[in-house]
Amino acid sequence: MSHEDFPTDDPAVVTCGLPYANGDLHVGHLRTYVGGDVYARALERLGQQTAFVSGSDMHGTPVAVNAEREGVSPEDFALEWHERYAETFPKFNVDFDNYGHTHDATNTELTRELVRELDERGHVYEKEIMVAYDPVDDQYLPDRYVEGTCPYCGAHARGDECDEGCQRHLEPGEIEDPVSTISGNPAEYRERTHKFFAVSEFADYLSEFLDRLEGTSNARNQPREWIEQGLQDWCITRDMDWGIDYPSDGDGANGADDADEATGSNAGADADADDLVLYVWVDAPIEYISSTKQYVDRVGADAFDWEAAWLNDADHDGGQIVHVIGRDIIQHHTIFWPAMLHATDHVEPRAVMASGFVTLGGKGFSTSRDRAVWADEYLEEGFHPDLLRYYLATNGGFQQDVDFSWERFRERVNAELVGTVGNFLYRSLLFAHRNYDGAPADVEGASEEVAAAIDEAVADVTAAVNDYSIRDLGDAVTALAGFGNEYIQRNEPWALVDDDPDAAAQVIYDCVQLAKAIAVLFEPIAPEKCERIWAQLGEDGSVHDVTVEAATEPPAGAFDEPDELFEKIPEERVEELNEKLESRVAEATDEDADDGGDADETGADADDASAAETAADAAVEGEDAASDLEPLVEERIGFEEFEDLDLRVGRIVSAEGIEGADKLARLEVDLGVETRQIVAGIKQLHDLESLPGTRVIVLANLERAELFGVESNGMVLAAGEEADLLTTHGDAEPGTQVK
Ligand code: MSP
Ligand code: ZN
Repeated sequence: MSHEDFPTDDPAVVTCGLPYANGDLHVGHLRTYVGGDVYARALERLGQQTAFVSGSDMHGTPVAVNAEREGVSPEDFALEWHERYAETFPKFNVDFDNYGHTHDATNTELTRELVRELDERGHVYEKEIMVAYDPVDDQYLPDRYVEGTCPYCGAHARGDECDEGCQRHLEPGEIEDPVSTISGNPAEYRERTHKFFAVSEFADYLSEFLDRLEGTSNARNQPREWIEQGLQDWCITRDMDWGIDYPSDGDGANGADDADEATGSNAGADADADDLVLYVWVDAPIEYISSTKQYVDRVGADAFDWEAAWLNDADHDGGQIVHVIGRDIIQHHTIFWPAMLHATDHVEPRAVMASGFVTLGGKGFSTSRDRAVWADEYLEEGFHPDLLRYYLATNGGFQQDVDFSWERFRERVNAELVGTVGNFLYRSLLFAHRNYDGAPADVEGASEEVAAAIDEAVADVTAAVNDYSIRDLGDAVTALAGFGNEYIQRNEPWALVDDDPDAAAQVIYDCVQLAKAIAVLFEPIAPEKCERIWAQLGEDGSVHDVTVEAATEPPAGAFDEPDELFEKIPEERVEELNEKLESRVAEATDEDADDGGDADETGADADDASAAETAADAAVEGEDAASDLEPLVEERIGFEEFEDLDLRVGRIVSAEGIEGADKLARLEVDLGVETRQIVAGIKQLHDLESLPGTRVIVLANLERAELFGVESNGMVLAAGEEADLLTTHGDAEPGTQVK
């Protein structure tokens, strides 16, 4: 991939998937917002000029259906939630440069302008399609107003997406056995004329774009498969009142004085453009640009040039756009949106970071069943937001699904934040304060060893940013704090103060330097806590404004007695939290069993994305009940028979999916004496791009076989349904025999 490493001289924009303004936020949503905030802060710490923007997604049926259920207008309903979100994000230290919404004037105008441009350039056409209609209530049923059966996989699905099955976006008219989610009435299909965006024309462009796209590998792999299966054009209008009017010639407002309007919007087979609003997924991503514009309206074009960031035309060559989202909306961000951008002379995204899902008890969050950990609930429990940020950022790779667990939360807080980071800071700064009133004077600078450790951490953080791994970023800092603990322990300054005061002063100065570096490098993950370290160290200004260079600049000097930064979470707390949560999960699960997929689930759970158990899920830790295990084999084999197996240590050199096969991957495995091609059924279970370098155990003398036309010369051993790869505990060389 050809992108220049961060930091670049271009403006960068980091965006977060817009929350539908339709209900409470939960920690699943927060994975997107914390992820984006950590990433944007990290870019800024590297000295990259960055705008961090998002906004509320006000339109579409996820909002309209919920508003209708509450008996309020969609506008009032959505605005209320929008205001709530705008207040909630700062409480998690998610600090957008601009947080707008899709219904404001900036986005309405820009959306209409871009759609007009698409139309004028010939990318939009009209087509007659069948749309679901409730004959009893005399109402069209777009998207989430209807549910039924997915035509691709047979799962129960929403009108616009197969949320419980294959995750595909569904076009109007596609869903089978349609039923109204509002009235429960069976729906019929009626013919209507709608507008289509010719996405299929962009297949070649999109394939090339995906080759350039950075971020997480799921955001490239899934869309590549969709393109191979053939892209469908995309219906961009809906029979609804709530939304942005389709821009028809000359006029602005919807429902002008057309003759065929007289019979009401549900009457004729021909939907005039004036009756139609844009599909929510047209105006939603455009808010990324609108929100950047609003930011610039506030700070001025000298501070941030939105055109340099977003335009790719004769006068501009675009900035660095990074979209942070959850994995359920990859298709919108890697197919539809880049096609829209490309068709209207905007820059393509540089990266899409698509997180795995947060689940509970292995199942998707469910709003209507209260099976979720709520953002407000977390704060009401009195936990500091930076703790959750740390947990969400580092507990598992970004694209892995994570099952939320208070126990795991406690473990990470107690072991790493309290035990490693907090412990180092407190013991060293307390010692410094008591013996030197701060950083010891008369020390020339940090020792070589400590300077090298800080340089390495800065390099690791920079690499983590360029690898889009916020987990690596967190690990780099905890490793630095771990080094600090080891350093102070090894050098025992308390034993040196009397005998060798110069040596003691050097050690403590080094520790203060390490503390300063931790404040700078950990700021993206724990911004408020790091601001406190910064103040504690007596440093000027705000740690939010410095770059990584500050990590190695001399500490300010004098400071007061420190207090402890993090507190241990007692075990009883977890027990109490678990009890609350478990009873909720159990209730929700019972209800699932009782009323298996009632109409309520699909409509009211507009903010829940897929259930956890789709085939493509990355490793969710499975809890196999003992009863599911095969009994141990009674029949014994002789040692000689075992010796017939030529088991070797191998090292994966490369791994790629086999085209056309759902599950198979082609591996090149270094066996010391030679490199073998081996086919393994791990395509959907592992992040293939992260496998090279991994040690595996190979059965080298298995008969050769051919799978999907690819020869497999040996077998890689793996455990269980998730294909947990067997590896070595130490560092045995490739080719070593396993005995
Ligand atoms: N409004 C759309 C996004 C439009 S972007 C132009 C949407 N909204 S949402 O409210 O359903 O989700 C908001 C963000 O939270 C998305 O990035 C989504 O992927 C993420 N998540 C929602 N539930 C989630 C989990 N349970 N786990 C992880 N991320 C989740 O989609
Ligand atoms: Zn499906």
